Amino acid sequence: MDIKAYLLKKRTVVDKALELLVPPAKTYPPKVFGAMRYSLFAGGKRVRPILAIAAAEALGANTTGLLPVAGTLELIHTYSLIHDDLPAMDDDDLRRGRPTCHKVYGEAMAILAGDGLLNLAFEVLSDPRRLKTIPAQRLVAIIREVSLASGVFGMVGGQAVDMESEGKDVDFPTLEYIHTHKTGALIRASVRVGAQYARASERRLKALTRYGEMVGLAFQIVDDILDIVGTQKEIGKDVGSDMKKGKKTFPSFYGLAESRRRANEVAGHAIDALKDFDRKADPLRELAKYIVTRVN
Ligand code: IPE
Ligand code: IPE
Ligand code: MG
Ligand code: MG
Ligand code: MG
Repeated sequence: MDIKAYLLKKRTVVDKALELLVPPAKTYPPKVFGAMRYSLFAGGKRVRPILAIAAAEALGANTTGLLPVAGTLELIHTYSLIHDDLPAMDDDDLRRGRPTCHKVYGEAMAILAGDGLLNLAFEVLSDPRRLKTIPAQRLVAIIREVSLASGVFGMVGGQAVDMESEGKDVDFPTLEYIHTHKTGALIRASVRVGAQYARASERRLKALTRYGEMVGLAFQIVDDILDIVGTQKEIGKDVGSDMKKGKKTFPSFYGLAESRRRANEVAGHAIDALKDFDRKADPLRELAKYIVTRVN
């Protein structure tokens, strides 16, 4: 299959779904809506919503009803990026090829835009008019999944340890905790909500969870590698940002070659987890490969 064409098609679908979730920029108060839209529509890869859609497709589901849920994963992810870039955190000036949210809208509005996106996600997830095709009980399970992955047991926890570890000599389990939480948790949840939407059996859910965990880890290892070897033009972010802040990353532990080897190995585990799935899981298999070969 042509993964490039698949990604392009799904990105368009996700962007349309997002447009329906976020009010127009002129909505009062316009500055915060403008800031939310500025970061959201700056051209992200939409990996998390696409993983949710591909997981549901792997189980043979029609994914139209999943699109608002998939969109909320991107709302939360974008919020995490806006806050991640703030001067109090990574202090970065470039994101998705544009000046970071706080550079354009100021820190107060960037903080609020992040808060706005996060809470909008849960407003959407709890809106029965938008999620007509998902029975309430399954929706509650999905909301719990997303809350756990985004909050202090997931992304927020990982970000906290990432910040605390700057410039320190942390051990490998700590680095693993950072990666599996700050990035892995939301990616794992993305795959799982797609599976839950498609009413996966326990066995299938377990396999897809393993896939999500492996893809999530590989994703952050590659993010760390690209911070060193990527170009600003390609990654749309400042290069060398991790080293500058003394971040603990895979390359800082193992060097580039070994980090690359590990990323490939972990992506291989992700593909192995799908051994009992048929051709409908090919997009997931190709996504695992894409995640380790991507240049942005
Ligand atoms: C970057 O995420 C931050 C991480 C969690 C590694 P992405 O690489 O998915 O960024 P966008 O959404 O495409 O901009
Ligand atoms: C970010 O990790 C993880 C988030 C939860 C946003 P990084 O700090 O490495 O992400 P980039 O490199 O700034 O995109
Ligand atoms: Mg960071
Ligand atoms: Mg960062
Ligand atoms: Mg990074």
